[in-house]
Amino acid sequence: MKVLIIGSGGREYSIGLSLKKDKNIDKIYFSPGNGKTDELGDNINVNDYNKLVEFAKSNKIDLTIVGPEAPLTEGIVDIFEKKGLNIFGPSKNAARLEGSKVFMKNFLSKFNIPTAKYIETSDFKKASNFIDTLSEPIVVKADGLCAGKGVIIAKTKDEARNTVKDMLSGKSFGEAGKKVIVEEFLDGYELSLFAICDGKDYKLFPAAQDHKRLLNGDKGPNTGGMGAYVPTPLINKTLYDKIKNNIIEPTLKGMQEIGSPYKGVLFIGIMVVNEEPVVLEYNVRFGDPECEVLMPLLKTSAGDLFFKASTGRLKEVDMEFLNIYAVGVVMASENYPYKSSIASEIIVDDTIDDNISANTHISYAGVKKIDGKLFATGGRVLLCIGTGSSISEAKDRAYGLCGQVHFAGKQFRTDIAYQALGV
Ligand code: AMP
Ligand code: GLY
Repeated sequence: MKVLIIGSGGREYSIGLSLKKDKNIDKIYFSPGNGKTDELGDNINVNDYNKLVEFAKSNKIDLTIVGPEAPLTEGIVDIFEKKGLNIFGPSKNAARLEGSKVFMKNFLSKFNIPTAKYIETSDFKKASNFIDTLSEPIVVKADGLCAGKGVIIAKTKDEARNTVKDMLSGKSFGEAGKKVIVEEFLDGYELSLFAICDGKDYKLFPAAQDHKRLLNGDKGPNTGGMGAYVPTPLINKTLYDKIKNNIIEPTLKGMQEIGSPYKGVLFIGIMVVNEEPVVLEYNVRFGDPECEVLMPLLKTSAGDLFFKASTGRLKEVDMEFLNIYAVGVVMASENYPYKSSIASEIIVDDTIDDNISANTHISYAGVKKIDGKLFATGGRVLLCIGTGSSISEAKDRAYGLCGQVHFAGKQFRTDIAYQALGV
């Protein structure tokens, strides 16, 4: 089978790495890929979706896997399917679950799926009146895609009102903020759930936990995610059952009912409040860095899983997992998440510890090759992933590998998985 992977991050690298080990896969292409994906397959750089269709046709691609949300919300799946091509991801309509927070909140309320109390509006007065009914802090969200930055947790009612004002005027997020959600603050802990869906059926990965803040102890600004681990012990069978029965199944049924059956990865951001799961958000793709720790757990052929899911035959797949834990630590460039950083060469020492070399690997993201040398090009550069029979073993191995990786200005958290380890 020939596969085309759309995207350039650690998420796409890790999908490629799993496919590379899969004997069903003969060839992998990445568009655009990064400075290391070219060692797993071929990088191509085709920005236009119709040209990608031509590429997929002329190269006899059996399956296209879409990593990031932007092509999905722009309708890449519809364009490929119209031309009879197999593609794993939701349609443009279904991708509104992530692309529009207003759509998402209205969907949740229509199908009685638990979520924070909210109002959606473009009217400052309405927002202000609703703010008066809430207790502080208060959450304000821009409607559209804002690269993870469109959520503001306002400490006071005045701050919430000012945030709404700036969003509605287009000052803070342009068009994406012309409609806002104001919602109650949920106090609990977060989990990331990933369901592979084929429009009718779904298969669930073990729950993961991300670390969105830049600094140890969940301090500092929000980022795309600084590290993740899986499976998390912060969930038990009762909670899984509630998530399946009260959230995932009504979501998939609801999507069918509105004529947008959901195919692809459904990523549900959940806040657990007093042992009850509440939906914070949906994403229509794998999380990054969650994908990088989920992939190593997969015992089932990744190629078969994605192919069957994209062709409505998920029922035929027995999704099995290795009985291990995985911890991933993001190494980011100096100025992340504020601004770009100067490219710096990456040196990875040879690992002499057999335990570390056998149970770790790097997933590459913000990297490029110049004259055969690898450079960190900014943002989240790479992830060091460790696996083991416990979270602490996997974590120690991941950090052992971090010690072998060098580039100027590297920064990473040293407490990934702390909630699971109780430190
Ligand atoms: P979202 O993009 O909606 O997932 O929001 C990004 C992050 O903001 C989440 O991962 C939470 O950490 C936080 N957040 C969003 N909504 C709420 C809420 N209602 N209560 C508390 N935290 C929230
Ligand atoms: N790690 C969170 C995300 O991918 O949105």
